[in-house]
Amino acid sequence: MRLIVQKDYQMLSLWAARYVARAILKAEPRENSPFILGLPTGSSPLGMYQELIRLCSQGVISFKHVITFNMDEYVGIPEDHPQSYRRFMYDNFFNHINIPKQNINFLNGNADDLAAECLRYEQAVSSLEGIDLFVGGIGTDGHIAFNEPGSSLTSRTRIKTLAEETRASNSRFFENDITKVPKYALTVGVGTVMDAREVLIIAYGHNKARALMHVIEEGINHMWTVSALQQHRRATILCDEDATEELKVRTVKYFKMMEADNLDPDAILKV
Ligand code: GLP
Repeated sequence: MRLIVQKDYQMLSLWAARYVARAILKAEPRENSPFILGLPTGSSPLGMYQELIRLCSQGVISFKHVITFNMDEYVGIPEDHPQSYRRFMYDNFFNHINIPKQNINFLNGNADDLAAECLRYEQAVSSLEGIDLFVGGIGTDGHIAFNEPGSSLTSRTRIKTLAEETRASNSRFFENDITKVPKYALTVGVGTVMDAREVLIIAYGHNKARALMHVIEEGINHMWTVSALQQHRRATILCDEDATEELKVRTVKYFKMMEADNLDPDAILKV
């Protein structure tokens, strides 16, 4: 696992966008060999989306041959609800890039048969031979997508009951009223994320510091589901300085030292 520490949100967002852009450019996607990208919602990736939009509008990258899968979706809120993850993604990203609509995949939290919907999603991913790069965020309780504490680390796409901590934290998007936050969500499993060829997690701010400490300095633990990435071949956690506050000084020093000689992720982007 790599840990990349950037000084603030702006630098973190630029780094994330360039990482994604570079992966797409490197893959040279075409119609018969598209790039498969897993995407998150949340406030943490917003800056990355803005920078990707900029790179796309300048013609540095194209999403024409990119197929996306969003990680999760609330159950039972209308598609066009301002807090539905589908709406979030169109408003903040898809409406501003050149991705064909048929390349965008979401879980349908209003499907009649939610279990069948989850199976359909897993099969859609498998039919494309898996996800090339899964970008994710992290909950204050260390969850990835909506894999709450105690989730199986080999789980697949399924319905999950949301933890009170998650509903309280997400209530900021629902007029600070926890009773308005849905109780259930559909989410890719930890196993689904682990199958991706590459994973990038964005952790931003003080309120992620406790989770990062558990995920990076402690063992693999289903109570902090992002920690499963310790066993991933190509996982990167990208955070800002504030999110490192609970890490040992020597842990941060170690990872910074490891990155010091790494290639600049901007190297192949002439922007
Ligand atoms: C939700 C999402 C997660 C996301 C998390 C953190 O719970 N299901 O995928 O990572 O929020 O969001 P934020 O980036 O707003 O802190």
